[in-house]
Amino acid sequence: MAIQTPALNVMVAAARKAGRSLARDFGEVENLQVSVKGAGDFVSAADLRAEKIIREELMHARPAYGWLGEESEEVKGKDPTRRWIVDPLDGTTNFLHGLPHFAISIALEHKGEVVSAVILDPAKEEMFVAEKGGGAFVNDRRLRVSARKEMSEAVFATGVPFGSKRTLPITLKELARLMPQCAGVRRFGSAALDLAYVAAGRYDGFWEREIQPWDMAAGILIAKEAGALVTDLSPGKAPGLDMMERGDIVAANPNIFEKFRSELGGD
Ligand code: IPD
Ligand code: CA
Repeated sequence: MAIQTPALNVMVAAARKAGRSLARDFGEVENLQVSVKGAGDFVSAADLRAEKIIREELMHARPAYGWLGEESEEVKGKDPTRRWIVDPLDGTTNFLHGLPHFAISIALEHKGEVVSAVILDPAKEEMFVAEKGGGAFVNDRRLRVSARKEMSEAVFATGVPFGSKRTLPITLKELARLMPQCAGVRRFGSAALDLAYVAAGRYDGFWEREIQPWDMAAGILIAKEAGALVTDLSPGKAPGLDMMERGDIVAANPNIFEKFRSELGGD
């Protein structure tokens, strides 16, 4: 790996420790599929256990940094320029259903920009990491986005809104426009892994609306460091923090980015 700061080492260690806990709990969840009561409470506990591990590791190593995570209150750090942005279990519905596609996502933000990122997929034992300017890697292998240019060859990923989300109609329109002209659209259920897969050239692009900063923070840097273009979904606006503020995102290899983005609905 090109560079590896002490902060990234701390993040990798925290992800590994929490990953062991999630992997153990996932084995139990698979057994609970046949119980009528289901695995809901158990999964909530597994999520909190993972968060506690990550929080303890990160806050112990860097007590002055802030914290933004899915499972607990935001903490403003003594150092207002740095914060952790953490999703201890991205892909909760998959985890709950015994589907082995979920991740831990940890980002370090400095002055409004993600500078270090880790996404760990404990079921497949894939660790995606990136540091600003240092490239992106999976298990020490360098990542590079795909080179595909043609929409007809491209595979895209998205998150289809569920529950009370208001953007289902626009997403369905986008799917209706895209699906006839591409090789397929996947909805695997972890935004963090969707972005990591764009970085790995497995998907040619990804878009989603109504997603949270912790779903995308680490993935944004990993995708960018692998050569992806990553912006919000509002055309004509500068990329950057906007994505996390607006809660929408599009990422793709540079050869196909404009064609892909122009098929997406905007506001
Ligand atoms: C969800 C996943 C999913 C995405 C949702 C997220 P969670 O996170 O990333 O792929 O479509 O928008 O909320 O709830 O599993 O942590
Ligand atoms: Ca999430």
